[in-house]
Amino acid sequence: MKKIIFVVGARPNFMKVAPIMEALQEHNETTSISKNIKAVLVHTGQHYSKDMSDSFFNELSLPKPDINLGVGSGTHCEQIGRIMVGFEKVLLHEKPDFVLVVGDVNSTLACAIDAKKLGIKLIHVEAGLRSGDMTMSEEVNRILTDSISDLLFTTEKSGNENLELEGISPEKIKFVGNVMIDTLLKYKNKAEKLCTFKKLKIKSKKNKDYAVLTLHRPSNVDSSAILSGIGEAFVTIGKSLPVVFPCHPRTKKKIQEFGLENVFSFENSIFLVNPLSYLDFLNLNLNASMVMTDSGGVQEETTILSIPCLTLRRNTERPVTVAQGSNYLVGNNTSDIVNAFFRVREEKKRYEIPELWDGRAGFRIVSEIVSCL
Ligand code: UD1
Repeated sequence: MKKIIFVVGARPNFMKVAPIMEALQEHNETTSISKNIKAVLVHTGQHYSKDMSDSFFNELSLPKPDINLGVGSGTHCEQIGRIMVGFEKVLLHEKPDFVLVVGDVNSTLACAIDAKKLGIKLIHVEAGLRSGDMTMSEEVNRILTDSISDLLFTTEKSGNENLELEGISPEKIKFVGNVMIDTLLKYKNKAEKLCTFKKLKIKSKKNKDYAVLTLHRPSNVDSSAILSGIGEAFVTIGKSLPVVFPCHPRTKKKIQEFGLENVFSFENSIFLVNPLSYLDFLNLNLNASMVMTDSGGVQEETTILSIPCLTLRRNTERPVTVAQGSNYLVGNNTSDIVNAFFRVREEKKRYEIPELWDGRAGFRIVSEIVSCL
């Protein structure tokens, strides 16, 4: 029987791997044992807190990881180094036929290098996305991972074009759609039934009308001047729309370090809360009037939900969300954020659903893997 190792490491990986593992399980249940593919789930431990990791396993019915490398936080090189040393041992012991990595986090790159060095077939899901910004560590992770992958699954056509421009042979590239959207569509009804805003006990006068904010990119949160400029924008926005801010641990640390607690505050109608579970975050977005973010996945999720999304970056590796979806690139300058907020609040645009974002990407991926056995 063939064996595949699935790698997860950080929060945005869990909802991408879940639908592929589910599709594989269905394949195994409906084919003869000789055609089964055994799945092994490895968690690098890049994210380890209950609210950055454990809650996702419970809600997304992901199996408990077979192996957890427990690498934890550190500088990027420490993190990548520790993952590589730990994962190499796993590969030598497990001897899989395939390693499947998703997205663009440090765990993605580290495990990809190990697989390649040991001559194991490497599969990259969410391949080909390019922001063109090499100061983003995710961009470095994407380019390097794609350059050594044997099978590259893309979420949008721009991915295929980028990969071909980089000289990757077209037979290796398969446009399959978006696994993150598989998960969203699967759990949307369940999330709709929650009352997350109420559960958070936010005492806001404008109870049902609110915006959601997430921020974690070093380019937005590591400089005191930039983070306080963003805070200033949200003080203005908070006067017309309360802002719920599920705060990433690194952002929370920076807010404290720069003494910005009185800016991102209840008094300014900015309600800072701990990171939310998958279903609570989905519920919060479903009912929001607008979302502001520097995340990659949230740009895609709001596109499917048709909720206007202001992305606090100058570029995006997910251009289909701007061309067809509800995403607006606004950067991180105070007046640009405020102006975009008031402009988009007035706008009544129709958004389109990108091709193959239909809840079936996981199944397409499994059938492609099976067809190359
Ligand atoms: C990582 C990814 C980023 C992704 C993000 C989603 C890389 C290069 N970056 O960034 O692409 O969008 O995850 O969250 O891989 N921490 C905790 N608990 C945890 C994990 C982290 O408190 O479970 C804190 C630690 O202080 C840590 C910091 O968050 O130093 C940053 O974590 P790290 O994994 O280095 O990167 P993220 O900023 O989360």
